[in-house]
Amino acid sequence: TKPNILVVGSLNMDIVVQAPRFPKPGETLTGKDSHFIPGGKGANQAVAAARLGAQTSMLGAVGDDLFGQALLESLQIDKVGFQTVKKVKEVPTGIAAITLTSTDNQIIVVPGANEWLTIADIAANEAIFAEADVVLLQLEVPLPTVMAAASMAKKHGKIVVLNPAPAQKLPDSLLRNVDYITPNLTELEQLTGIDSSKHGLEKAVDELLRMGPPQVVTTLGSEGTVYKQAGGSLVQVPAYRVPVVDTTGAGDSFNAALAVQLAKGADLHESILYAVKVSALAVTQFGAQSGMPTSEQVDTFEASLRDKEQT
Ligand code: RIB
Ligand code: NA
Repeated sequence: TKPNILVVGSLNMDIVVQAPRFPKPGETLTGKDSHFIPGGKGANQAVAAARLGAQTSMLGAVGDDLFGQALLESLQIDKVGFQTVKKVKEVPTGIAAITLTSTDNQIIVVPGANEWLTIADIAANEAIFAEADVVLLQLEVPLPTVMAAASMAKKHGKIVVLNPAPAQKLPDSLLRNVDYITPNLTELEQLTGIDSSKHGLEKAVDELLRMGPPQVVTTLGSEGTVYKQAGGSLVQVPAYRVPVVDTTGAGDSFNAALAVQLAKGADLHESILYAVKVSALAVTQFGAQSGMPTSEQVDTFEASLRDKEQT
């Protein structure tokens, strides 16, 4: 049977423009290209998990408008269960205004309907938690909703993966319901109050382990990934060098891949080895959600790596 993933989180319409550089305050710049692409960390992770072969459902909220409709259609195309995405009347669908330069991105998210995903929605959808192997969470829906989702998942004995993005401080009561937490450096510092550039990465990781989650996976972009399990030692997994097209959603692809592998019963090290390949492929393709690789693309990439080893 297929691994089963439930994503509780955000859906946004990404409005992406390409510019030669970021504008200065008060400046008007002429950009090159504009796109409307389905996004939102939750929906991106759901689409990525589905493309990697998982049976995937999404619990979230959109507005009763054209963007909302487009986001649901995009989930449907990628075979993500969207029956549990509610339409909220008279509230706009979430949007993300994204500016891309050749090397970087800037994002402003206006949550809209995502703010309307409530604790009651978690309770009303208990059945879907019972079916999941892994419940995958981020922080673009209200914190009380995220907390309710984590405790519902734990009530059913499920594995909880939390991608703590965007960065914020979190209550211990949430962190104690999390099995795997996947901060980047900024998020790690926010969560622990420890500046790892001054005090070392391991000190911050240890602090986060102490706060609850028994597995901390820190993503370092092109520097790869570092993980530590309670009682274990710090392990570093290098990233692949790839031609970067668009790093938006790289974290989302990583989290989805990690969740899918854990749902299959893979151990953490194996799961991370897979996830770094998936995020390497994701950054070579344009768009967050549209650039998520399929399991076939990952297989092809793995085969090409083996060929390189032999020659
Ligand atoms: O992680 C990338 C996502 O963050 C974008 O798709 C955007 O919608 C924001 O939520
Ligand atoms: Na991409």
